[in-house]
Amino acid sequence: MSEISDPLPPSWLEELKALLGPGGHLESDADRAPFETDFRALHHGHTPLVALPDSTARVAEFVRWCAAHRVAIVPQGGNTSYCGGATPRANGREIVLSLRRLDRIHSVDPDGDALTADAGCVLARLQEAAAATGRLLPMSLGSEGSCTLGGIISTNAGGTAVLRYGMMRSLVLGLEVVLPDGRVLDQLTGLAKDNTGYDVKQLFIGAEGTLGIVTAACIRLHPQPASTVTAFAAVPTPAAAIALLARLRRAAGNAVSTFELLPRVALELVLRHIPGTRDPCGGTHPWYLLIELGLNEPAPEAALRFESTLAAALEAGEITDVAIATSGAQREALWRLREEIPLAQRREGAGLKHDVAVAVQRLPEFISEGSALVAGLAPGARLVAYGHLGDGSLHFNLTAAENDDGASLLAAGDEIRHAVHDLVARYRGSISAEHGIGQLKVAELERYEDPVALALMRDIKRVIDPLGIMNPGKVLA
Ligand code: MLT
Ligand code: ZN
Repeated sequence: MSEISDPLPPSWLEELKALLGPGGHLESDADRAPFETDFRALHHGHTPLVALPDSTARVAEFVRWCAAHRVAIVPQGGNTSYCGGATPRANGREIVLSLRRLDRIHSVDPDGDALTADAGCVLARLQEAAAATGRLLPMSLGSEGSCTLGGIISTNAGGTAVLRYGMMRSLVLGLEVVLPDGRVLDQLTGLAKDNTGYDVKQLFIGAEGTLGIVTAACIRLHPQPASTVTAFAAVPTPAAAIALLARLRRAAGNAVSTFELLPRVALELVLRHIPGTRDPCGGTHPWYLLIELGLNEPAPEAALRFESTLAAALEAGEITDVAIATSGAQREALWRLREEIPLAQRREGAGLKHDVAVAVQRLPEFISEGSALVAGLAPGARLVAYGHLGDGSLHFNLTAAENDDGASLLAAGDEIRHAVHDLVARYRGSISAEHGIGQLKVAELERYEDPVALALMRDIKRVIDPLGIMNPGKVLA
């Protein structure tokens, strides 16, 4: 990373402050600090100023100024990303653009199944606004209390209901984007059908702020299920879990919204580090599933049908034990066993994270080959391979052995990462299933991405951002 060598002239900063208006910037060390580091504290940078525009017009004016002065912009939403995509670099010449003051909900249309809001709205607030009209905004993830609409669009977030509702891209009906030259792309139409040439808004979904700034979006809503059934099941193998998924889908179609796999070691970490959690199954089992279905039938019928499907799965040996939630509190307790894994893993100590995907039906084979691989490279380290089994997406993480400070595991990090990603490549999988590229995986993208796709990405970047001012050093080198 470059040093702070050539700070932006103070007169430029004064011009920007005037342009941003009252309350439109933060400047003191203490105020800037939270914007200069990602929440995992892996990436640290420096910005001379945090810009806080309060309207799309002001964002556009700010971007035009930055383009004229060749000043780089780092858009930031809730700052919850995993790959440093929203953290400025260390050169001190990149201005963080926080969208947090763009926080107006424009409309919630329950009949048209659409919600339109500014990019700075926090996801949980949008979920509540949709629920208040009897509709469901089905994007759900651990950071929903702080991540923002613009951030989850710019990273094409996944979460725990992708199986049924898809990733963020499948929920976006329309976008408003400020382009790197200050023009505003207004596609906030909310149309379900629009086949007029290239669908250019798609380029900005998952672009991590490298092509423009998402300032508002129109999102697709869904019906609220009449009832929800939730279970925590013990399974003997990942292959048995996949057989169970097929069984559930035969019985309930696409009502299966969550199908999350966790190994025994992940459950143990949660039980050890997260107060108030308890193992809902008897005995110890190698693997567990968190399963949720959102059904159209009323609760008693739904529960009976679900129980009979699980009873058949028990008989077939696909599951070996199961706990079904019978209250909201029990459902929450089951969800915590899955959602608190990342925190529990952090509390346990040093670890390595891999966010991979392969075809669902090949996951069991991948897990066994990958386990042998990392056992050879990191003897004693614990494999905490958990995640979104129904989507073919796994957090193939490692935690150092107990009573080991993890120094040797971290020292072998590059070698292990490449070995895991080489294996993923052999399965024609993805080295970033849901967390994106940011600054963390730029070299990995170069190494593993199809060269034709990479060349197209570079062409697109050059055409849309010829000055290279949008979030430089992220996604593409
Ligand atoms: C998860 O599935 O829990 C998230 O993607 C977070 C993580 O991997 O740490
Ligand atoms: Zn995940």
